[in-house]
Amino acid sequence: MSKQLIIFDTTLRDGEQSPGASMTRDEKVRIAKALERMRVDVIEAGFPVASEGDFESVKAVADAIKDSTVCGLARALDKDIDRAGEALKGANSARIHTFIATSPIHMKMKLRMEPDAVVEQAVRAVKRARQFTDNVEFSPEDAGRSELDFLCRVLEAVIDAGATTVNIPDTVGYNLPHQFGGLIGRLMERVPNSDKAVFSVHCHNDLGMAVANSLAAVAQGARQVECTINGLGERAGNAALEEIVMAVSTRRDVFDCSVDHLDRTQIVPCSRLVSSITGFTVQPNKAIVGANAFAHESGIHQDGVLKSRETYEIMRAEDVGWSANRMVLGKHSGRNAFRTRLQELGVNFASEEELNAAFVRFKELADKKHEIFDDDLQALVTEASLEAENERVKLVALKVCSETGETPNALVTLKIDGAEKTATASGGGPVDAAFKAIESLVNSGAELQLYSVNNITSGTDSQGEVTVRLEQDGRIVNGQGADTDIVIASAKAYINTLNRVLAPVDRQHPQV
Ligand code: KIV
Ligand code: ZN
Repeated sequence: MSKQLIIFDTTLRDGEQSPGASMTRDEKVRIAKALERMRVDVIEAGFPVASEGDFESVKAVADAIKDSTVCGLARALDKDIDRAGEALKGANSARIHTFIATSPIHMKMKLRMEPDAVVEQAVRAVKRARQFTDNVEFSPEDAGRSELDFLCRVLEAVIDAGATTVNIPDTVGYNLPHQFGGLIGRLMERVPNSDKAVFSVHCHNDLGMAVANSLAAVAQGARQVECTINGLGERAGNAALEEIVMAVSTRRDVFDCSVDHLDRTQIVPCSRLVSSITGFTVQPNKAIVGANAFAHESGIHQDGVLKSRETYEIMRAEDVGWSANRMVLGKHSGRNAFRTRLQELGVNFASEEELNAAFVRFKELADKKHEIFDDDLQALVTEASLEAENERVKLVALKVCSETGETPNALVTLKIDGAEKTATASGGGPVDAAFKAIESLVNSGAELQLYSVNNITSGTDSQGEVTVRLEQDGRIVNGQGADTDIVIASAKAYINTLNRVLAPVDRQHPQV
């Protein structure tokens, strides 16, 4: 029997460090539940000391998740560890993940600490974390650029202090697969107590090597991989969970560990959920979860697949959940069917009023669109939480005029801090005109950096899911909106982003 590879998902923590990918507490709980349905082993829910909101999110995930271990990140500081311990109190199974940088450049320039002091602080942090849980992970940040002898010294000391997992991060995505695999092999060989801890890896994708580096490490004996859905994460992102899982399961001939404990049919629904919540769309040619991942264009390929699918397919689309997006509900579906399907998707309503409000939205959607798919339901729930978030600016009405040979025009009414205001503007197209009218009322001065429209399902009656990214004083903020009318979806997305721009931020970054 091969050993299980531990899948540690950090979408809610490192994934959220993607500029603009911040998620609300309820969105994090929805994603955590989707990960639990996939039977992911460990869910890193956030960095509790970062802000009150982060603390509450980790706490909510810890309280909601029963089967996966819930993990909180903490720098090697007493206050971080205590906060993480507090946030994780309600978890069935809790892990504290503490870290400190070990590369010469980070120790000298960022921490301004001598190596001996770094070892001492790491040991102290692990011992303190052990007072809250016997499941403690330690990471030497920037291990990919650390000196081997020093890394061995730190790892031996933290394992002695009680770390049960040691995670080797390639924080800046600098390594190549043969180097990184070699590093893991050497560490496992040279650290005298390496058999007392699980070796884990955490690779960033700056050179596009995150998945390859992680798999090279697994081939050398790493037994935990840290990854994110859709490869979300700081800068170019982390190793993509779907790629790690499907590589290990498809090439079971080369790996002596398995991921058979995971429900791989949850991969695509989970990818869609993360993309709908964060507004980070998945490129069509993305492995496993991209729209074209299983589409054969060439006639020769199609012919081959029809004769025998193995001619050109190494995995089956249905095994990763591509068929899961079936039509589930329609115009005549009742409240019970609606509630039950959402429960199956991990969405529970806090009250009957919430259920009723969502059901009204569902009926409105079903009037415009006859077949309602799981992705439509997820978008509906996302939409409701986005609207609840829009505290300062709300859309009251929008009318656009678009005609051949005429300049498009928009008339918009907003409620800003409780007062209704109306403006008109013209633009290059109806969306441009609507955005100009909205900005003329809000006067945010924020610069539009990205505008993208995606159809949630297929067909011309599909809902358009719009992502808007704005920049204000170096801060990047994303927002979303969905509607069967893409001009309205665009206005909703713009307004949601403006609300996020206007909201106060008090958040620390873990790695600064
Ligand atoms: O990339 C990194 O080094 C991290 C650590 C906190 C593990 O995210
Ligand atoms: Zn990271």
